[in-house]
Amino acid sequence: MASMSNVLRSVSVSGVYRLAARRIVLPWVLGQVRPAGSLLEIGAGSGAMSAELLARHGDLTAVVTDFDPRMVESAQRVLAPFGARATARQADATALPFEDGRFDVVLSCGMLHHVGDWRTALAEVVRVLRPGGRFVGYVIVRTRPVELLGLGTATMIRPGELREAFAELPVTAGVSGSSLTRFSAVKRWRRPGSPVSASRAPARRARGCSR
Ligand SMILES: C[S@@+](CC[C@H](N)C(=O)[O-])C[C@H]1O[C@@H](n2cnc3c(N)ncnc32)[C@H](O)[C@@H]1O
Repeated sequence: MASMSNVLRSVSVSGVYRLAARRIVLPWVLGQVRPAGSLLEIGAGSGAMSAELLARHGDLTAVVTDFDPRMVESAQRVLAPFGARATARQADATALPFEDGRFDVVLSCGMLHHVGDWRTALAEVVRVLRPGGRFVGYVIVRTRPVELLGLGTATMIRPGELREAFAELPVTAGVSGSSLTRFSAVKRWRRPGSPVSASRAPARRARGCSR
């Protein structure tokens, strides 16, 4: 799992990045989705995306997480103006320290391709979403152009794999794009009598555990 370089870290806390988040990334990622309630952001970096959403939607609260403690510190600074509406904490997306069904919305921007065990991260996100909750974001996929640019890594999501992974989970998902793939998935309501779904079972299966 990669830590951000110092250069990337500086860029991600800049005003230009905040502007790009507001004008380009979030409109593209969210489409018609209007986040409300409790938001979890995974791999949030500087927290720029959540900060924009909190500024826009007064009824939103956010838990902003990242694996890298230095990014968590940046996010804490960026989110300070929002007071009790936002908290930033260290968390690995593959083992989220939250109970099942805790969040209304989960956001993941440009981070899943950094997570070697991204299938487990997906299962974890679905576990912490409430039924009817939504998972939105985008990821860089290992297409030919991405390889030619030297950005591909062995564990990166390959074309088609994200759609396949969502199909294994209790979500209804839309996936579009190529090198930059965006997704929007809604967690299904548990069928009466269904023994699993909103538990750690999918994450355990993704890790190869038998029970
Ligand atoms: C390219 S940055 C994206 C930051 C932010 N989402 C944005 O759009 O500005 C990727 C982030 O994912 C984080 N990350 C990588 N692996 C992670 C993991 N397993 N769990 C949580 N965060 C992770 C990195 O520390 C980094 O901050």
